[in-house]
Amino acid sequence: MNLRRAVFPVAGYGTRFLPASKAIPKELLPIVDKPAVQYVVEEAVAAGVETAIFVTAEGKSAIEDHFDRNLRLEAFLAERGKLDLLETVRKVGAMVQVVAVRQKEALGLGHAVLQAAPVLGDEPFAVLLGDDIIVGQPPAIGRLAELARKTGAPVIAVMEVPQAEIRHYGCVAGDLVEPGVWRVRDLVEKPEPAKAPSNLAIIGRYVLTHDVLRTLAATPPDRAGEIQLTEGLRRSLAAGPLYACTFPGRRFDAGNKADFLRATVEIALQHPELGAGFRKVLEELFGQPPRT
Ligand code: G1P
Repeated sequence: MNLRRAVFPVAGYGTRFLPASKAIPKELLPIVDKPAVQYVVEEAVAAGVETAIFVTAEGKSAIEDHFDRNLRLEAFLAERGKLDLLETVRKVGAMVQVVAVRQKEALGLGHAVLQAAPVLGDEPFAVLLGDDIIVGQPPAIGRLAELARKTGAPVIAVMEVPQAEIRHYGCVAGDLVEPGVWRVRDLVEKPEPAKAPSNLAIIGRYVLTHDVLRTLAATPPDRAGEIQLTEGLRRSLAAGPLYACTFPGRRFDAGNKADFLRATVEIALQHPELGAGFRKVLEELFGQPPRT
């Protein structure tokens, strides 16, 4: 099974990052020297994805532009002899084929994924949520793809979280079949911690099949009027197995300001050009008593 297509739901307003996200899609806010969404697209590309399907909305087309060529900029950089930058810019424009579909109403993650159905065909596909940034090699989504290939079933990424935090996530109950792999028995979206069947949280990485998409299309909206991907997956359990697995890499919750800052710091420290200098900056900041 080749995982050639990946869906990136990016239609949200990014209300948690206002006013930064008022005129700029929150997915384009930088983490060190790349927009947040580029980390997620690079992860998919490292796992073999060739086509990025952005489920986008009015006012967010700069995301597509970021992964397109910018011929004027390229000509400018070539003229000035800025060849390193030219290569950087060209690489981003050549990384992936871009498809954009619109989610015309904010009707939930399941609804967002359904908007991509006309361009997905019959093959399994990935879904990657931009709020979850996972850095490191091998790519996290590649682990899911490998398990999907082995089992022929859809696979979702999970991570243990403190019980009190499970209310922010889809929650999975399953039977451990090998270390780090569960066969899913049940799923529930954002449960009350006291009622949660486990502390295994769904992280925004999925390898899904055409069958799941069909079930999702028949999934009714929840009380808030949203079609939940978690509910679609729960319903798909009747038709065949679903697996959940842990994944390699360091995950940041880029939807949360403090964790976004942590991502900035940790990624900056690993940066080949900036790392050493930035470490000194931090040492200066923390090595001295606070200025009053
Ligand atoms: C979505 C999903 C949830 C999942 C989470 C991962 O929720 O609905 O099941 O655990 O992403 O980040 P959101 O954070 O978009 O509300």
